[in-house]
Amino acid sequence: MSIDDRTDEVLDETLDAEWMDQRTGWRGVWNGIFLRMIPKVNWSFTLGSATLFVVVNQFITGILLTIYYVPSPQDAYDTVLYITNELPAGWLIRGMHHWGATAMVALAILHMLRVIYYGAYKFPREVTWISGVMLLLITFGFGFTGYLLPWDQKAYWATTVGTKILEVTPVVGESLLRIARGGDQLSAVTLSRFFGIHVWVLPAVLLSILGIHLYLVIRIGISAPAKREE
Ligand code: HEM
Repeated sequence: MSIDDRTDEVLDETLDAEWMDQRTGWRGVWNGIFLRMIPKVNWSFTLGSATLFVVVNQFITGILLTIYYVPSPQDAYDTVLYITNELPAGWLIRGMHHWGATAMVALAILHMLRVIYYGAYKFPREVTWISGVMLLLITFGFGFTGYLLPWDQKAYWATTVGTKILEVTPVVGESLLRIARGGDQLSAVTLSRFFGIHVWVLPAVLLSILGIHLYLVIRIGISAPAKREE
């Protein structure tokens, strides 16, 4: 039997989970994530996972919205109306994205308050905390950039006021305002800039930092509330 025949035979025989595990070591990763030991905790410890669930919701519904949404001053508002009123289940997908955004901010803040209450930001979880602060800022960034996208009166004027705040920054205020708006006034440039940040930049940064955050949670292990006698 040639070496090639033997190789084929071995591969055929072991084409199952074991085969994959030998080559990728996936079982170790699976066990590390899903079969790890965790201390007995209460419901407030589910707030991080609840936030994670909403993040997944935002990605799925957000991707679906981009199929019909067009980020130009001529089309943005009309496409949002079309999604809401004409597209089958469009109202539902937009609603899930809209309310998901609010839920994500609320849950991330509640999760942070839980971490503060239990002192879970202390050694050895300082880096988990710092990555969490970044996630919260990114979440605010999503809210701020997403608010402009329907391009209606509320969105236009809220972003006019929101970007104006940058102007009070000492020395660089005016430059910051121009960078945020892509000019002196809100325009097509602002809309496409906000859209690009909302659907490309922030998701990429969020996924990277979230990866670090969850890696640390798994690596260090969750903090358990202290018992009465401790
Ligand atoms: C997109 C936002 C976020 C997601 C998806 C997320 C996800 C998670 C998950 C799933 C856990 C483990 C379960 C739990 O403790 O609830 C966790 C733990 C943790 N998170 Fe977050 N998190 C986010 C934002 C934040 C924020 C804003 C902070 C603080 C500023 C933070 C700080 C921490 C810390 C310190 C832990 C470890 C807690 C412990 O060991 O008890 N996270 N996070």
